[in-house]
Amino acid sequence: MTEVIVLPDPAAVAVAAADRVVAAVRAAPRGVLGVATGSTPLGTYAELGARHAAGEDFSGLDVVLLDEYIGLPVGDPQRYLEVIRRELADRIGLPHSRVHAPDVDATDVDSACAAYERTIAALGGVDLQILGLGADGHVAFNMPGTQPDSRTRRTALSEQTVRDNARFFGDRPDRVPRSVVTQGLGTIREARSLLMLVAGAHKADALEGLLARTGDLEAPGTALLDHPDLVVLADRAAARSAPR
Ligand code: GLP
Repeated sequence: MTEVIVLPDPAAVAVAAADRVVAAVRAAPRGVLGVATGSTPLGTYAELGARHAAGEDFSGLDVVLLDEYIGLPVGDPQRYLEVIRRELADRIGLPHSRVHAPDVDATDVDSACAAYERTIAALGGVDLQILGLGADGHVAFNMPGTQPDSRTRRTALSEQTVRDNARFFGDRPDRVPRSVVTQGLGTIREARSLLMLVAGAHKADALEGLLARTGDLEAPGTALLDHPDLVVLADRAAARSAPR
């Protein structure tokens, strides 16, 4: 079932998302949290840091990444592993050893993708998966056209995503890696609960395309709509057309 909750602004989205993460962690203190990058979840991660500072215990968690760039040097601040260590793990008192990402430095990236699927399975699967939504409708790095049953794999970014993500690379599209590893839509669907965060007027078309439920491969998120527990937290600007 898909539930769409419309909130006044991005700050309210962050608080509501943090509430849900905290509830999930209290229910399963040794559980697995799936995390997204991009700018939308950053407020949620800051809020989780504040909850930790106020006494919330996240120390039993494992955290798994959705996706990662290929080709950035180890330790590069824009590598998603670094982003999640800095923006989330360090704030909630989680050792870096509990943050899991695909091995994009492997000589055989295809085998590393299969190994990442095994890592997630060995952890017991993802309990709660935080997701964003790209302006072109992409989910993780599953670009428009992705098959609903896709698995973790190497893929290429769309030109729009390269342009969108250039803001993290000094507004230089030429510095954005073109090649990435992403969990597939079929992989993401296996998480027990999905929590998608959408904020800003620039996401309104993408959210509208998702909720139109056309099953259109151009809106990859529609592959998630038949998930038994998908909650979309959207701010008013993004939810222009959402039911309320
Ligand atoms: C990147 C990530 C996605 C994320 C998207 C949206 O492409 N791979 O997981 O959902 O950005 O980012 P933002 O929240 O900055 O709009």
